Amino acid sequence: MQKTIKANSAYLILAFVSISLFLGCVGGQLGKNNSGEYRNGMVVSASEYASKIGVDVLKKGGNAVDAAVAVQFALAVVYPNAGNIGGGGFMVYRSAKGETNTLDFREKAAGNASRDMYLDAAGNPIVDKSLYGQLAAGVPGSVAGMAEAHQKYGRLKWDELVAPAEALAANGFKITARQARELTGMKTRLKKLNLLGTALLKEKVWAEGDVLVQQELANTLKRIKEEGRNGFYEGAVADSIVAEMKRGNGIITKQDLKDYKAVWRKPVLGTYRGYDIITMPPPSSGGIALVQLLKSVEAYPLSKWGFNSDSTVQVMVEAERRVYADRAAHLGDPDFYPVPQQKLIENGYVKARMATFNWQKASTSAEIKAGEIAPVEHEETTHFSIVDKDGNAVSITTTLNGSYGAGVVVKGAGFLLNNEMDDFSVKPGSPNMFGLVGGEANAIAPKKRMLSSMTPAILAKNGELFMVVGTPGGSTIITSVFQTIVNVVDFNQSMQTAVNSKKFHHQWLPDQVDIEPQALDSLTIEKLKAKGYKIVPRGAIGRVDAILKTKWGYYQGGADPRGDDKAIGW
Ligand code: DON
Repeated sequence: MQKTIKANSAYLILAFVSISLFLGCVGGQLGKNNSGEYRNGMVVSASEYASKIGVDVLKKGGNAVDAAVAVQFALAVVYPNAGNIGGGGFMVYRSAKGETNTLDFREKAAGNASRDMYLDAAGNPIVDKSLYGQLAAGVPGSVAGMAEAHQKYGRLKWDELVAPAEALAANGFKITARQARELTGMKTRLKKLNLLGTALLKEKVWAEGDVLVQQELANTLKRIKEEGRNGFYEGAVADSIVAEMKRGNGIITKQDLKDYKAVWRKPVLGTYRGYDIITMPPPSSGGIALVQLLKSVEAYPLSKWGFNSDSTVQVMVEAERRVYADRAAHLGDPDFYPVPQQKLIENGYVKARMATFNWQKASTSAEIKAGEIAPVEHEETTHFSIVDKDGNAVSITTTLNGSYGAGVVVKGAGFLLNNEMDDFSVKPGSPNMFGLVGGEANAIAPKKRMLSSMTPAILAKNGELFMVVGTPGGSTIITSVFQTIVNVVDFNQSMQTAVNSKKFHHQWLPDQVDIEPQALDSLTIEKLKAKGYKIVPRGAIGRVDAILKTKWGYYQGGADPRGDDKAIGW
């Protein structure tokens, strides 16, 4: 009798555990399964604070765009390297029903900008002039972008979305060890460029766990919360921006601020092995380049060759060489320059570009296209990916350009100005001292947008959302997004593995393959070298934050361990 009771309870426990496991795996109540995947939505961003704010918005019934607005403002507080209200960015949107759209909130040159504004009398670029100080800033686009996105797609009230960022700025947040290092590293520059002081400066060195309070930024966010875009582009904040310009020979005027508009643009669409790619058109080069890259390698059996094998790397590098050569010559702000967008992503055109590829020997960048040199960009931007309960998806990459932008915090308004003007070809046709080069397409002109590499993207298959992806990393943005997609589609990697995987990069000129530590094994490196490839080790490439929808309908997060990034689902 005793035995039977024991046996029965053992069966009961077993049955209970099995049912729980089953529910956990294929759709339990909690929204989370045993693999750490979530059913109701997810936010992946550069900061745990920001990801949490985004998920709270989703839990309250906000959609992906609502969460994106809250995350963008939160990042301006908790990730001042790149999160911003003084910069700009791009949003790619796909609704659960498959409607797609993109929003361009890229900065613009001021009305008084001129082609030669960073050159000396001899016509040479002046050191640092397009990089630091008030003159390096383009007219910010982020606040207009968020207001525009919210107006078109938002569900919750605007003030609810800005309030969490305002509270974080007023009450402060704990900085990470990485942030302490970076802020301390910026001290000399911040001191030099902010004579009236800023919350980002501290007498002693910053330490992990220090609380960063930004009261002036909180006041600005309060105005934005109460007045929408006008709270930034007009009134007291606009006055502070213009006063800041006067302090450092900047040229942004009240009229420039008032005139700034974010623009809805038709997405660049492409396909790769049955997946639909939805991504950003010019003034980003990223979307066109991404579709070109994927089309260039589609004919080759990468999965058979294997992840980061010599053949895989060779084909991907040769595609990158050709695509970046096109980027330097053909891409710029479409409102100012006739970008041959359709031509560049035509199957026949892309195929013809790869026809000169030779297995035996590396192509040389001189033979692919002579003369111009592809840009090397500064690497501080941020990307976030969001999916809501209904399956609407948002992919946003946003930036100040360099880390902490122009290094100028607008006095009285508490936010950093971008140094996006350096993304223009400061002197068209010849490299400036930072390696940034381009042609006529990306020359400076009043009110023009500077060319970008940012590549926010969304993938779908058979009408269903598949992936939300993007990254910072300057010119490596395009190749990192490309490799992340290939890692999942061709090599069957999970989202987190695809993000973690070591990356490599070729950008036409300089004619070399940059590799992260451990990206390629020594035999692969030897094989590539024997064919004439120059392999150059470097530090981290990319900081991808992405979401993958599994065939069971769960969301896998990929938060890049190269930063303090965090995926939070529910
Ligand atoms: O728009 C661009 O391409 C650059 N301003 C991006 C800079 C960047 O990614 C820096 N990031 N890590």
